[in-house]
Amino acid sequence: MLLDGKALSKKILENIKAKVDKLEKKPHLAVILVGDDEASQIYVRNKKKTAESLGIKSTVIELPKETEEQVLLDTIRRLNNDPDVTAILVQMPLPKHINSNNIINAIDPKKDVDCFTPENVGKLATGQEPYFYPVTPQGILMLLDYYKVPIEGKHVVIIGRSNIVGKPMARMLLQRNATVTICHSYTQDLEEKIKAADIVISAAGKKVVRCKMVKYKAVFVDVGISRNAHGKITGDLNWEIDFNNFDEVLEYFSFVSPVPGGVGPMTIASLMLNTLASDDSVILSRCAGSLLSVVGLSF
Ligand code: GUN
Repeated sequence: MLLDGKALSKKILENIKAKVDKLEKKPHLAVILVGDDEASQIYVRNKKKTAESLGIKSTVIELPKETEEQVLLDTIRRLNNDPDVTAILVQMPLPKHINSNNIINAIDPKKDVDCFTPENVGKLATGQEPYFYPVTPQGILMLLDYYKVPIEGKHVVIIGRSNIVGKPMARMLLQRNATVTICHSYTQDLEEKIKAADIVISAAGKKVVRCKMVKYKAVFVDVGISRNAHGKITGDLNWEIDFNNFDEVLEYFSFVSPVPGGVGPMTIASLMLNTLASDDSVILSRCAGSLLSVVGLSF
């Protein structure tokens, strides 16, 4: 069965819009973009466009790639102290001369909609409630919950150990009583590990998985975004090796997320949900399952 992130994100966004409409003081997302990385520019444009379509205020601060670290730190301090700004996002990656840890450490944890700051990451790691859950893992959990994919007691293999996806995904899944294995570029016998999974979450950014490496009727969540030789956007799953069309892929897995139209739109919806929650008047129990009920979708 298809894990249709495009359709679910549309429903979530509609429900967020209805909630924002009722707020007197609208949430305000400030996004900082340093440099001219093309992919980052597209992501930031999408975030702004989506926020505005929901009635969420959004400010994009674009800084040239040679911006000094101190200038970026000053910008973040100004946003931290601005009572109108409820959410701050610094688009990653930053230019190499900037120490991203210094930048992340400067963000007010109460406005840290990415869950990047040590306070929020530490809370997540110790089973406490961070102010916000990280957007991509939260989007994935909402997708799995919506389709009622069981998580408790299941063996989840995550491919990729980034601070944005792999590590926080593992922590959230542990909170949900899954058994978690994180694989990465140094992992030995990757295929053996993938075969043992009930759920595979692949965030490698490379075509590292073939369908038949995965157990028949397992769940596959594809977080990867890359382009093939024809310039088409694809994920980490190299399904064309084993199958002729995507219908056969759908039959092989019990659930599979497509690229595009799977995790990508869920990540944006998840960021919008965090931005909605950044307004003090919106009280959310910030765990993915109950977030779905907050936006009026049963769980
Ligand atoms: N770059 C790629 N993904 C992300 C994300 O989720 N948040 C930020 N801030 N930068 C990113």
